[in-house]
Amino acid sequence: MKNRFVLILDFGGQYNQVIARRVRELGVYCEVYPYGRALEVINEKKPAGIIFTGGPNSVYDEGAPRVDAGVFDANIPILGICYGAQVMAHMLGGKVEASDVREYGKTETEFDSKSPLFLDLPSRSSTWMSHTDRIVDVPSGFRITASSPGAPVAAMEDRKKRFFAVQFHPEVSHTICGQQIIKNFLVGACKCRCDWNMESYMDRAIGEIKSRVGDGKVLLALSGGVDSSVLAALLSRSIGKQLTAVFVDHGFMRKNEGDEIESAFSEWDMNFIRVDAGKRFLSKISKITDPEQKRKAIGEEFIRVFEQEAKKIGKVDFLAQGTIYPDIIESGLGDAATIKSHHNVGGLPDCVDFKEIIEPLRMLFKDEVRKLGRSLGLADVLVNRQPFPGPGLAIRIVGEVTREKLDILKDADYIFREEINRAGLGGEIGQYFAVLTSIRSVGVMGDFRTYDYTIALRAVTTSDFMTADFAKIPYPLLERVSSRIVGEVEHVNRVVYDITTKPPATIEWE
Ligand code: XMP
Repeated sequence: MKNRFVLILDFGGQYNQVIARRVRELGVYCEVYPYGRALEVINEKKPAGIIFTGGPNSVYDEGAPRVDAGVFDANIPILGICYGAQVMAHMLGGKVEASDVREYGKTETEFDSKSPLFLDLPSRSSTWMSHTDRIVDVPSGFRITASSPGAPVAAMEDRKKRFFAVQFHPEVSHTICGQQIIKNFLVGACKCRCDWNMESYMDRAIGEIKSRVGDGKVLLALSGGVDSSVLAALLSRSIGKQLTAVFVDHGFMRKNEGDEIESAFSEWDMNFIRVDAGKRFLSKISKITDPEQKRKAIGEEFIRVFEQEAKKIGKVDFLAQGTIYPDIIESGLGDAATIKSHHNVGGLPDCVDFKEIIEPLRMLFKDEVRKLGRSLGLADVLVNRQPFPGPGLAIRIVGEVTREKLDILKDADYIFREEINRAGLGGEIGQYFAVLTSIRSVGVMGDFRTYDYTIALRAVTTSDFMTADFAKIPYPLLERVSSRIVGEVEHVNRVVYDITTKPPATIEWE
């Protein structure tokens, strides 16, 4: 383990998580820490290598982030990226200068292929640049190993000390050879073994859960989302019947989904409790039209229902939370434990009697959580689920939610998803669903005038759900979906396709 851990020091760059994911994809375990904790983590974890991320500052800004100088004396290979490269140059005696022009986007870059960092690379290739400042003099002991039109020092190295720095972003896919560069650093400079994988992670996690929980009791609120489902499977595998999973079915799941979740867990060794609370939730939000109030009311009700169930179970030793790594990184790495409340609102169930919280997924990214789910043998319907908002279909019905509207939306959404999957597009479209707009309009069916609802179809392609493009679904497919929905779902006489990107729209309508 000692030989395999890589420390990523976060200087505030927007790609810090991407760097961590790239390193892990290469089979090397890494963790992200704020730059200020460098020495503490080095002493405790003895990393095989350190990566400085980019960041928004200029090294000459007042209070600009600097790393403790001791980091450079620790005899550990370092790779500085963008701002991280400039920090390295500046702190070791080189010169960084503000430039008039920002170098931004894909940039042709020349590499010195004698550098261990650029081993097996062509001498010229495209990199992703995003900087205004640039290194103009390298520190003593360094030499220049790459250049681009806007960055005379696009890379530099002190091979003896195993310090490397690149002005461009190797972690971004537009840097054609980026993954090879990161691999060269990990394998060539840090001597990492690239053998970290989900099976070994799973075995270790199960061992750790067993020893932490002992013969204690664990309680988990199961929403049916990917994180809580994988967590339930992992806990079941580790401690079996000592786990009680409470699945609060709020009635806003997609068609058949509540039953699918229950049956997916029927074979697993745990106490599984399903609470059918659909009526209760519906009456709680029956008069609410404001999206935020709706979300809040559902989140709070979820906690209340969960509390009531928990009280029946009595005292437990642990409450399990499905916190994942992005939550931890975004909170500045959990100096205080981050607690993710269900649906991101509503707070922790304070009436539940537990001693400690366990968060066994806290070091995993979302795609790694899915991989773990597969390694555990969790059903595909759960592992491959699309993201689904905690408040469910209630926020895909614009305005007031009624039983009738819920039934209409469930059927329309089912048809849309079925057709997308039949066309084999489920993999390439990130998220696709139907929305009940609550607009009614005039139509004609047979010889009759209708005055019925409009369904909006939403399908987006996205890599991170922060930005999204609408999916360019073939017209014949849209036509089929539309005619099936108006033909098969009563009280719908119009179907529209949402062609807005995010931003300015969001993916969900509420
Ligand atoms: P928006 O609508 O903000 O959604 O563009 C971005 C992504 O987040 C999902 N989403 C949620 N996920 N709880 C969740 O776990 C929520 O309350 C929630 N609201 C939106 C949404 O489906 C999309 O994937």
